[in-house]
Amino acid sequence: RNDAGAAPSVSLTDLFDEKSGTISPAIYADPQLYELELERVFSRSWLFIAHETHIPKAGDYLATYMAEDPVIAVRQKDGGVKVFLNQCRHRGMKICRTDGGNAKAFTCTYHGWAYDIGGNLVQVPLEQQSFACLDKKQWGARQARVDSYKGLIFATWNMDAPTLSDYLGDAKSYLDLILDRSEGGTEAIGGIVKWVIPCNWKFAAEQFCSDMYHGATSHMSPMMAASPDTLPGDPTDFSGRQFRASRGGHGTGFFVEGAEWLWRVGQAGEHVSGFDIAAAEQRTNLHRSGKRPVGFSQHMTVFPNFSIFAGANTARVWHPRGPGEIEVWAFGLVDKAASDAEKEQMRLMTLRTFSAAGTWEQDDGENWVEVQRVLRGHEARRTLFNAQMGAGAPRGEDPTFPETITNAFAEEAARGFYAHWQKLMTDVDGSFSKAGSYADAAE
Ligand code: FES
Ligand code: FE
Repeated sequence: RNDAGAAPSVSLTDLFDEKSGTISPAIYADPQLYELELERVFSRSWLFIAHETHIPKAGDYLATYMAEDPVIAVRQKDGGVKVFLNQCRHRGMKICRTDGGNAKAFTCTYHGWAYDIGGNLVQVPLEQQSFACLDKKQWGARQARVDSYKGLIFATWNMDAPTLSDYLGDAKSYLDLILDRSEGGTEAIGGIVKWVIPCNWKFAAEQFCSDMYHGATSHMSPMMAASPDTLPGDPTDFSGRQFRASRGGHGTGFFVEGAEWLWRVGQAGEHVSGFDIAAAEQRTNLHRSGKRPVGFSQHMTVFPNFSIFAGANTARVWHPRGPGEIEVWAFGLVDKAASDAEKEQMRLMTLRTFSAAGTWEQDDGENWVEVQRVLRGHEARRTLFNAQMGAGAPRGEDPTFPETITNAFAEEAARGFYAHWQKLMTDVDGSFSKAGSYADAAE
């Protein structure tokens, strides 16, 4: 901790420098910075919890995490969702030890305290005989604040945070490309695939936020397999945009033309029978290129650790597990309007490309793991990284793509991600992440 115990190895104001476009690599490896992240980034931001379709009926629940904190998301009888800490108020045992299902109550397996689906403490063994005056109302599970946007449920511990809608801000129109491109929106398919990667969470979150650049090198093998006429290292037929949220650290990049291989990999949109491109264009109020709505080659991060890759129908959370490890929780995200056969086709395609054993997924994880290994070196942790790509490019000139710069190959969204992250990290009392000041804080 910064104020108790060892200090971080770098000053908090030197972690990221927007002017010079440099990143201190200590941010991926320093344990004190990680502790500070749990407090100032994760406990103050809106965090993705589940898709609405993961828990459709009353009593349906999903045990997940908000950063390192285990939580349970439960559908209530009135249709709402509660998210509470998966921690018994007696001695801290998990009150739910399964991954998900349907429950009428959660009973702690240590001494038997029982909580209803709203997290209220409802039963205590030997209460009459052994507790003089236990006010059970005071001892319910700790509740998070919950909100949702077009099928995605988020929660935060920050009761003063802006609404989820304000938090997402201008990133909403880019999320809409994925979430609202056809009637009925999206649904989650298949299970949640979970795996561990020994790397810092920011490598994954930043890459999905901003990095369209790595594809032509890192993914060249599967690209050539999918599209044999692809030229190694030649990205010249790709053009696209990169969006940096005006505040909040969210970002996305997408190709507008070319990138033929992406269409051979992705199965979304045009592959859904009856998909109406003109309607999608109107719904999302965004442009399409030729026959293709632009969103389908898009990957995006909602700050801090939720990402979607529309081209591969995958959504995932990068749960941090210390400075050098993440648990990836990924699920298939498809248009509800697709037929069962098409959904199955998408599910298989996602498993084969971007999933634990997916050929493309391996390319990305390999880089993050290797970078993290290099950072075991003392000198390596003191040698700045370059994040200058596309700096100074004009923003917001194309009304079709608000707040974008005119090249997918840039690090504009990454700079937005780190600028917001650094603001949170230096915000001692949490005032920056409160609703009022947040609304005025252009980044
Ligand atoms: Fe849960 Fe004791 S820890 S009942
Ligand atoms: Fe990749």
